Amino acid sequence: MSRILVTGGAGYIGSHFVHRYLKKHPEAPIVVVDNLSEGHRESLDGLKTVTLLQEDTGDRATMCSILQEHQIQTVIHFAASCYVGESQEQPAKYFENNCAKTLVLLDAMDHCGVKEIVFSSTCASYGNPDYVPIDESHPQMPINVYGTTKLMVEQALRAYALAKGWSYVALRYFNAAGADESGLIGEHHDPETHLIPLILQAALGKRNSIQIYGDDYDTPDGTCIRDYIHVNDLADAHIAAIKYLRCNPGGEVFNLGTRTGSSVLEVIDMCRKITGKEIPVQVSQRRPGDPAVLVSNAEKAHNLLGWQAQYDLERIVATAWHWEQASRY
Ligand SMILES: NC(=O)c1ccc[n+]([C@@H]2O[C@H](COP(=O)([O-])OP(=O)(O)OC[C@H]3O[C@@H](n4cnc5c(N)ncnc54)[C@H](O)[C@@H]3O)[C@@H](O)[C@H]2O)c1
Repeated sequence: MSRILVTGGAGYIGSHFVHRYLKKHPEAPIVVVDNLSEGHRESLDGLKTVTLLQEDTGDRATMCSILQEHQIQTVIHFAASCYVGESQEQPAKYFENNCAKTLVLLDAMDHCGVKEIVFSSTCASYGNPDYVPIDESHPQMPINVYGTTKLMVEQALRAYALAKGWSYVALRYFNAAGADESGLIGEHHDPETHLIPLILQAALGKRNSIQIYGDDYDTPDGTCIRDYIHVNDLADAHIAAIKYLRCNPGGEVFNLGTRTGSSVLEVIDMCRKITGKEIPVQVSQRRPGDPAVLVSNAEKAHNLLGWQAQYDLERIVATAWHWEQASRY
């Protein structure tokens, strides 16, 4: 069994990937590097074959010794800073953590002869869409620092593939949501900025209401439409991507979404249905830089990875609600 290194594996999506990978390969040794700046040690509790190392991807010597000592074949790179709003306020933090530290990781991989990587990219790399659903050949013109950092790393990977014969897959996620059915792991960002946990926290009375930023968009109910994709579906796409890059040298990018858009009001209604709670809403001004509609065309992932999203919005909200009511961290 070849060994994988998961950066950011104690975070939201990374921990779901680790759990899901172990369901498929129960004996697989997995090394997780997470500096725990945002991640949760508890998310990996009880996983016997997982070695969690509290280290930073920007430490070249440490990354080299981990890659060598654990004989890593493939890196799954989730570690990043992920708040769009914060990226606008602190660009340097994002260029440092998402770009500079990734370049250090890539250099360490190069030094150690590790040539396979799966990278967490984002639909934010497209910017304001010219058309929807968005396919992979849509121009990438990010309108925020966060999306720019992800695009820069995609380009670095392409350059490594050309220069050094690496194999990479960049996965452009749309809106990650939901939690594993086990209730053991789920979403906990601090501060939370994602819509579904915010609505569910309002349902639990942890927030007074949910803010809707603009109800005058050119959409059927006036609120923004997004493509919500279950975190376990994302995890499964990574498993398919690892298999894919081992048979297909070079680089490939894939959108990961459901091709189904849900408006903010539709998501709130689904949360009301699942929780049985009245959830107060407040409408405020549009936020700058929020496109009206972001919906994926994920046909390429279906055709080449044999992957397709399995969870619909109802299951996404139901699993998130299960987690939110009794979250362990
Ligand atoms: N959540 C989404 O909707 C979404 C959408 C598109 C892309 N992504 C990308 O997916 C990845 C995971 O996102 P998430 O929502 O799980 O975020 P998260 O913050 O929960 O996870 C990121 C993890 O990386 C760790 N980390 C950050 N910088 C590190 C460093 N320099 N060294 C070691 N560890 C470090 C953090 O401690 C955290 O555990 C990110 O790359 C993010 O940009 C997320």
